[in-house]
Amino acid sequence: MKGDRLRTSLNCGISIPCIGFGTYSNPYDGCVTETAILNALKVGYRHFDTAMVYGSEPAVGSALKQAMREGKVEREETFVTSKLWGCDFHDPVSALKRSLKMLHMEYIDMYLVHWPLKLKPWVQSAFPKDDEFEAETDMEATWAGMERCMEIGLCRGIGVSNFSSKKIAELVEHASVIPAVNQVEMHPMWRQKKLREACAESNIHVSAYTSLGGPGNTWGTTAVMEHPTIRTIALRHNVTPAQVALQWGVTVGASVIVKSFNEKRMEENFAALNFKLEDRDMLEIDTIEERKVIRAGIYVGRATGPYKTLEELWDNEI
Ligand SMILES: NC(=O)c1ccc[n+]([C@@H]2O[C@H](COP(=O)([O-])OP(=O)(O)OC[C@H]3O[C@@H](n4cnc5c(N)ncnc54)[C@H](OP(=O)(O)O)[C@@H]3O)[C@@H](O)[C@H]2O)c1
Repeated sequence: MKGDRLRTSLNCGISIPCIGFGTYSNPYDGCVTETAILNALKVGYRHFDTAMVYGSEPAVGSALKQAMREGKVEREETFVTSKLWGCDFHDPVSALKRSLKMLHMEYIDMYLVHWPLKLKPWVQSAFPKDDEFEAETDMEATWAGMERCMEIGLCRGIGVSNFSSKKIAELVEHASVIPAVNQVEMHPMWRQKKLREACAESNIHVSAYTSLGGPGNTWGTTAVMEHPTIRTIALRHNVTPAQVALQWGVTVGASVIVKSFNEKRMEENFAALNFKLEDRDMLEIDTIEERKVIRAGIYVGRATGPYKTLEELWDNEI
């Protein structure tokens, strides 16, 4: 099965492709996104990462529906991740039902709590106003709702995103279903060693986003791909810096999510699965100075929010 040669088992009994296709773009254009997903399917991507707040669920649904209608792919081969936004923490089941409608699907493979951040119920924006945050996350009740989503067959697995080691430990303490995935920023310049160890202890798979450092995004950086160590390793293997960054994520046991709507670059990124890094390369990458790209300063120090500082949001893992 194309795109299936590299998958990793999850604690919920399903497997996740080692490389996933990101669908967030700003500004968002539905037609461009849909075309990109159809091209990505041709290249071999089978995992599509979306979220209510990205606005890309209809494009993912529509592209997959078209590809399935044309017999190019079967639903069982694909893996769709979507995410619960903070405004829906009080009712994950209804939120996921709305997402499924957008996706024209009966179930998704993975449903993640997008951020450990509860918002007022009307806040659909990724950039809430100062007084639109709830003071408490109420994660215990929200997680019970996530478990219900799985129980009634709306998704095959549940997980979290942007959770620190401490927040994972707190969640695991009261969870009946251990999260299958923690999707976080991770790349050769933000290696998440402590978090990877904490997740491994509970058999939680780490999925890496912004795995190239997000070059081309206003908030992103080219520092990962331009780093001399990454460039040297790329030359040594006759691959590109992007391929080194992505293969690094896979080598440490994560799945990587990468966004490119450009056909050449989506092929280049997918081909990162075709070579191996050696111990020497991994040791060299371990010496790169660390730098977190997505710090999420907009979610801290807000009038009604629970986190006063970045250290509180990330529990000092920053
Ligand atoms: N859970 C979360 O909170 C969260 C947060 C952020 C992201 N994500 C997910 O992760 C996905 C990817 O994140 P991201 O966009 O921040 O980071 P990224 O994949 O590291 O970077 C994407 C940017 O890099 C460019 N690019 C892609 N491949 C390239 C290559 N081989 N050479 C040079 N430039 C390349 C893309 O431009 P072109 O399209 O022009 O190639 C785009 O501007 C998102 O779409 C989303 O699905 C999740």
